[in-house]
Amino acid sequence: MKILVYPSPMEVIRNMAELFVDLAGKAISKKQTCSVLLSGGSSPKQLYELLEAGYCDKIDWSAVHFFFGDERYVPFDDPQNNGLMAKKTLFDPLHIADDHIFYIDTAKSPEEAARDYERRIKEFFGAEEVKFDIALLGLGDNSHTASLFPHTEVLNETKALVKEVFVSELNQYRITLTYPVLNAAHAVVFLVYGAGKAQAVYNIIHGERDIPEYPAQLIQPSDGELYWVLDKAAAAKLHGHQ
Ligand code: 6PG
Repeated sequence: MKILVYPSPMEVIRNMAELFVDLAGKAISKKQTCSVLLSGGSSPKQLYELLEAGYCDKIDWSAVHFFFGDERYVPFDDPQNNGLMAKKTLFDPLHIADDHIFYIDTAKSPEEAARDYERRIKEFFGAEEVKFDIALLGLGDNSHTASLFPHTEVLNETKALVKEVFVSELNQYRITLTYPVLNAAHAVVFLVYGAGKAQAVYNIIHGERDIPEYPAQLIQPSDGELYWVLDKAAAAKLHGHQ
């Protein structure tokens, strides 16, 4: 596990963009392709904007295939939709080809959307193991990641790659990749900044093992690298960063 701490959110985003370019470049050099799981929420928005604005010529974007670690069960045109946010900040400005973008189809029922997404992921990887090159994750202040929320059944799911989950605290369905798929990735990167996340970061890295309470503790890549890219505020409770 590599814990990278930077002075400010802007420094976090800049260094995260550099790390992304490095990881994507290595995958493309090795296999001429790169599969990325994007995270949603607000934290990665500035990263996607910076990748487009400052790094558009640093990656062969035509070799990158974009997937989502989770999706809110809202229509595609809803401002909460992670796919819409990525389309606006990354895909459209970089002219990413439609067949390189795998949105989660929330026009289907939650269960059908999960089954359909799993089918499309398996179709993409074909006979190969489902191993994303980069899994970008955020962390909620309640220690959830993707849509693996505290005390939800999906935390125990080890067979399905994708599941629908009703998150009662949000009164909302989510579609999420399950933890084994995330752990299979070649590189898992938590992008977390802000003082409001400090306790959650501590819970996951140093807290007692309590998966139902701290779901992001499930993220332990089987053979890939785990990165935490943090600002000082989010790292404030970590040993050696107080
Ligand atoms: C989502 C994300 C979710 C997010 C965390 C942190 O769909 O909301 O996938 O896991 O990463 O909730 O969100 P913020 O970056 O907005 O704090």
